[in-house]
Amino acid sequence: MTDVMETSCDGVLLQPLRPGDAGAMSTTTLPHTPSPLGSDTGAAVRLNELRRTYGTGADAYEAVRGLDLEVERGSVLALLGVNGAGKTSTLEVVEGLAPATSGSVEVLGLDPVEDRAAVRRRTGVLLQHSGFAADLTVTETVELWAGLVTDARPVEEALAEVDLGGRADVAVRDLSGGEQRRLDLACSLLGRPELVMLDEPTTGLDPESRRRVWALLQRLRDAGTTILLTTHYLEEAEVLADRIAIMAAGRVVREGTPDELAASLPATISFTTPRGPDGPVVVPPLGAGRRTDRDRTVVETDDLQVTLTSLLTWAAHEGIRLEALDARQATLESVFLDVARVAADAGETHPSTYPASQPEDLR
Ligand SMILES: Nc1ncnc2c1ncn2[C@@H]1O[C@H](COP(=O)(O)OP(=O)(O)OP(=O)(O)O)[C@@H](O)[C@H]1O
Ligand SMILES: [Mg+2]
Repeated sequence: MTDVMETSCDGVLLQPLRPGDAGAMSTTTLPHTPSPLGSDTGAAVRLNELRRTYGTGADAYEAVRGLDLEVERGSVLALLGVNGAGKTSTLEVVEGLAPATSGSVEVLGLDPVEDRAAVRRRTGVLLQHSGFAADLTVTETVELWAGLVTDARPVEEALAEVDLGGRADVAVRDLSGGEQRRLDLACSLLGRPELVMLDEPTTGLDPESRRRVWALLQRLRDAGTTILLTTHYLEEAEVLADRIAIMAAGRVVREGTPDELAASLPATISFTTPRGPDGPVVVPPLGAGRRTDRDRTVVETDDLQVTLTSLLTWAAHEGIRLEALDARQATLESVFLDVARVAADAGETHPSTYPASQPEDLR
């Protein structure tokens, strides 16, 4: 996957991460000329019609296909999507590690490629895959990175935040996978960045460590840090994110708060199909969709309370007991799986067949 040079911290790579990137020069176009120092107002990240193509000619592959996204300052946005949806390809452009093939990219009011030095000073980057010099100890590694950022946190503080204080003198090669990931995270936060971009920050972490990282990220957010992260853990997105964007085939196809996304699919009521002397009892129309799933009847509704009331009133009137009755709102997981299913049905290679949507479109 990613051709990463040694290490990730602070986005110090100077060339595109992926050799297949079409075009060596930045072709990023900005809607306006940003000030050299950037701005302190407006969205922290603004992407418009972003495209990124790997390779050229017959080998060209468009991984990001006209993506629009905004991350408000001081907020947490989680970018979700199945493997290959284009999350890392997008983040690398925002991080200034790869040029956009077309579209506009604004980070803290700056162009992350043209204004690389200024953007780097204010951002922290955690790549999906990274590597440190294996011979250095944990402390030496952090000290090395501390020399590359202005106003670095004290090493002890940085290590304590990711619970690596007890591993300070251990060589990187002897760290477990999860410990290395936490070392990565410590380095990306070393320069007290106002915007951090974290590509799968908790992959490989045990559940306890993951929760500690969540607490760390919540503290950062409370202190005003903007966080753009990717994750495959839906609970992580629900716990941390103010807004969630779900990608499929190189575009954002759902975007909203966790509650808005959950409300974009119907709620379901299900129960064991009641049987009368003549066979299954058919539930009357309730102003909602209905299907049977083996021995269960499943009712889909946009208004759970109204439909549930109608159902229970009918059952009481008929003297029918609804066994194993279950009523639930859609979850982020059901929305994610719905996106994945539609993308798979569309073959993912033809994003134009995917319905560009806002949550309301699905109602
Ligand atoms: N250097 C490259 N050359 C050609 N295609 C590439 C290159 N790097 C990535 N891709 C392709 O671009 C698509 C998007 O990859 P990307 O790594 O952005 O996905 P992702 O959403 O981050 O996936 P994951 O969840 O697995 O990390 C994939 O189909 C991948 O195979
Ligand atoms: Mg990725």
